[in-house]
Amino acid sequence: METKTTVIAPEELQKQAEICGEIRARWAEAGRTPRAFVDTYGCQQNEADSERIRGYLSQMGYGFTDQEEEAQIIVLNTCAIREHAEQRVFGNVGALVHTKRAKPGQLICVCGCMAQEQHVADKIKQSFRHVDLVFGPHVLWKFPEFIHTLLTSRGRIFQIPDEAGSIAEGIPVVRQDKVKAWVSIMYGCNNFCSYCIVPYVRGRERSRKPEDILNEVRELVAEGYKDITLLGQNVNSYGKDLDEPMDFADLLEQVNAVPGDFLIRFMTSHPKDATQKLFETMARCEKVAPVLHLPFQAGNDRVLKVMNRKHTIEQYLDKIRALRALIPDIVLTSDVIVGFPGETTPEFEDTLKVLEEVRFDALFTFIYSPRVGTPAAKMDDPMSREEKLANFNRLVALQDSISEEKHAAYIGKTMRCLVDGESGDSRYPLSARTPGNRLVRLTGDPAVIGQFVQVKITDANKWSLFGEMA
Ligand code: 5AD
Ligand code: SF4
Repeated sequence: METKTTVIAPEELQKQAEICGEIRARWAEAGRTPRAFVDTYGCQQNEADSERIRGYLSQMGYGFTDQEEEAQIIVLNTCAIREHAEQRVFGNVGALVHTKRAKPGQLICVCGCMAQEQHVADKIKQSFRHVDLVFGPHVLWKFPEFIHTLLTSRGRIFQIPDEAGSIAEGIPVVRQDKVKAWVSIMYGCNNFCSYCIVPYVRGRERSRKPEDILNEVRELVAEGYKDITLLGQNVNSYGKDLDEPMDFADLLEQVNAVPGDFLIRFMTSHPKDATQKLFETMARCEKVAPVLHLPFQAGNDRVLKVMNRKHTIEQYLDKIRALRALIPDIVLTSDVIVGFPGETTPEFEDTLKVLEEVRFDALFTFIYSPRVGTPAAKMDDPMSREEKLANFNRLVALQDSISEEKHAAYIGKTMRCLVDGESGDSRYPLSARTPGNRLVRLTGDPAVIGQFVQVKITDANKWSLFGEMA
């Protein structure tokens, strides 16, 4: 397996920047400010990619709109993790046929993880002829070149390269938020959990250089960002492919040393790579938020083995105990899949036992969805949809009661929270986050958005906390 990271040469990116300039000049000559509509599905990695797509679009002279019918260019940045996400994308792509009919010359682009799947590209080629451009995440850096070709010649472009992936530094970024920012520290995944499409569409693990990450963090802090999330499919294996290997805990320590008043978060972690060193670093670094998202997926060892998760539930619980010994008030969240092929109801009940034992603050729960090309999609799956749904409902009900109890325990406490925006609720007009990232709906003046304030928690339900400025 290729482990060294391929970095796109700066000259190549310079060429893309020049193409952006040419496109901008074309629009300026025509005396128009074109508009772009960018729609993002799925995870934070996709959000981060959309910020780069917006960066490129902005350099090409495009402004932005949230109305498809006003846009000269539409970009759908898609997610392939579950079938439901894919169906939504197909539904929305289908509907764009009318938008395009009303606006000839409109460019429709589909990118992201779905675009990297051959069967999806084939379907778009045959059944969605109004789509002009399909490109996978590996070639996002060539987006300006694709748009230039579409604007200057006829035809459609399908770019889904079969390669391990690369790293491109220096793509422009237009961020969506002024308080919270994503920083990708690595791309791809080598774990091949048997249900998961990510390693097939995002390629092998590759790490950005620490200097590049630290420079980006310094810039964000200088711009006033207060909440920085380090992103990767499996951040705990950061650095293994670097010329001078370092691990994620070392990186965390270096990010923590960047001067300024800001919080550091990270996701996602794989239990097999979450080490005692990482926990000690989290405990020691004052800017690292006291929260860990550590997916366990299933509570039964047989199921974990077939999922190819490479750890047992006892090993998982040991890590949670070790972490709690160091950071007693750590906020813990996790991902769980219900109805993995062959999982029986007694095996599913082992998942409930893990919930009772760990008492997560929040849980992201999914019903297994077969993904073409993954090993699990070929496994026998005898359990009925109804039984899976019944198990899923039991899981959600148990977690709801735990979340509600955990939230109730905050009432009366005063804590330093980051006010991150407006909530849309007239009684509690502000939205804030506790250090552990629990949502707080807050009374107060919007002038404090972007600041850390002391908040007294006055009420709670299973979804959020409510508070006032102390
Ligand atoms: N079906 C259901 N859930 C899935 N996940 C990943 N692949 C699948 C699938 N095929 C869930 C896992 C992962 C989260 C991001 O999505 O729980 O941690
Ligand atoms: Fe998918 Fe497993 Fe990689 Fe997470 S660690 S992205 S679940 S293959």
